[in-house]
Amino acid sequence: TVVVVDFGAQYAQLIARRVREARVYSELVPHTTPVEEILAREPAAILLSGGPSSVYAEGAPAVDPALFEAGVPAFGICYGFQAMASALGGRVERTGQAEFGGTPLEVVAADSTLFHGLPREQSVWMSHGDAVTGAPPGFDVVARTADTPVAAFEDTRRRLAGVQFHPEVLHSEHGQAVLEHFLYEIAGCQPTWTMGNVIDEQVASIRAQVGDARVVCGLSGGVDSAVAAALVQQAVGDQLTCVFVDHGLLRKGEAEQVERDFVAATGVSLKVVEVADRFLDALADVTDPEDKRKVIGREFIRVFEQAAREVVADAGEHGEEVRFLVQGTLYPDVVESGGGAGTANIKSHHNVGGLPDDLQFDLVEPLRSLFKDEVRRVGLQLGLPESIVWRQPFPGPGLAIRIVGEVTADRLELLRHADAIARQELTAAGLDRDIWQCPVVLLAGVNSVGVQGDGRTYGHPVVLRPVASEDAMTADWARVPDDVLARISTRITNEVREVNRVVLDITSKPPGTIEWE
Ligand code: XMP
Repeated sequence: TVVVVDFGAQYAQLIARRVREARVYSELVPHTTPVEEILAREPAAILLSGGPSSVYAEGAPAVDPALFEAGVPAFGICYGFQAMASALGGRVERTGQAEFGGTPLEVVAADSTLFHGLPREQSVWMSHGDAVTGAPPGFDVVARTADTPVAAFEDTRRRLAGVQFHPEVLHSEHGQAVLEHFLYEIAGCQPTWTMGNVIDEQVASIRAQVGDARVVCGLSGGVDSAVAAALVQQAVGDQLTCVFVDHGLLRKGEAEQVERDFVAATGVSLKVVEVADRFLDALADVTDPEDKRKVIGREFIRVFEQAAREVVADAGEHGEEVRFLVQGTLYPDVVESGGGAGTANIKSHHNVGGLPDDLQFDLVEPLRSLFKDEVRRVGLQLGLPESIVWRQPFPGPGLAIRIVGEVTADRLELLRHADAIARQELTAAGLDRDIWQCPVVLLAGVNSVGVQGDGRTYGHPVVLRPVASEDAMTADWARVPDDVLARISTRITNEVREVNRVVLDITSKPPGTIEWE
């Protein structure tokens, strides 16, 4: 394991991902983690991230020199580079020469290991106010920029190195290569961490955890629960029962994807609960968005609880015990909630933490150490269909929060149709991977006048909300080419009865949220 010590960097998770892209497993720890605890993990190397502080500011997170005395290879990035310099007897100063953004870098040591085989001149991404003005004893200065005389240093004997720039961002031309040179050539790591190994490890650990007991898993139609279930199926086969609550609020074809494609790909035993009518009844007259979420959350828990009881009773008849519940918790959730066991935030209404006391399960969380892109790769390797693996984020309450107004069967049908057209055209235009998600929203309470054939119409508008985003916390409206928008608009107004207008949402987030409700 490579341990990335997070000094509060914007990019700390990205560093961990880049290390994994180099096929070396890595984990993040906060900078408050005691050195003994870090060393107890027997790390193959330690990476010190960037951070907002200045090393000589009061209360700045310092690096305990004991970290370097332990003989573990270490690599400092930006703040981590300065902290390393300062801990080992180098000099860090405010030079008055801040560098931000793309900056030309010159490699000054022909025999540098970090820059081995890379061009002498390259562009790197900088973001710093302080600078290392003197390398610590024993280090060779291997690169500089116009304003930073010490932009990279290395001591291959002690297996220590660092760079002022951010190798983890794509704007640093050869950043990944520099990082890999540190990992492979300085630290001696082997590129052996592959998705195949991840699957083998997880399968073994699920088997060890679960033993002979039975396991339930709720499928939502999303990537995470599907991949988690597929892994558990691989590990314990028939001991797993999946439950799919079909609340009738999914998009066109999504229930079939779970019931047919997912089952075909994995062979899981699936219990489908058809409760569309129940949800529609519960949603009658509900128009407030938060009320909709509450109603859906409440009904979901009740239905899931009932289904889980049936699974338990069923197993009981055969003398077996259902002890485990699979959850698709990902690594970013674990990191954000402090990294402790069982502390993950579970999303909105799929939060089965709401189950009653007599129905408590232990959690199986096979994706706890993975980032989203890694989950997708595991899914593909397990043979899941691309339509599931590459599914864009979709809210738990589904289409109910994309109908502004009361949810009815007719409106769901209409929205499902419009949404399917938009998705088809975006896919056909090859835009799926550029767009984070594209909610299609039905303004059921608004009518506008139109003309079709020779007649006047009085229909509802549909809103297209394509957004570009990294994490859904912020977003920009996606610049979809005009001809694609035109095709979507023409098809929706031609094919969807009662819709006579298509409008485009050009609001960023903030101030607009991604969903309309
Ligand atoms: P907003 O609308 O808050 O959405 O900008 C951010 C992301 O979260 C999704 N979303 C939800 N997901 N339950 C969910 O599971 C919800 O109630 C919910 N509301 C929004 C939304 O699709 C976007 O990806």
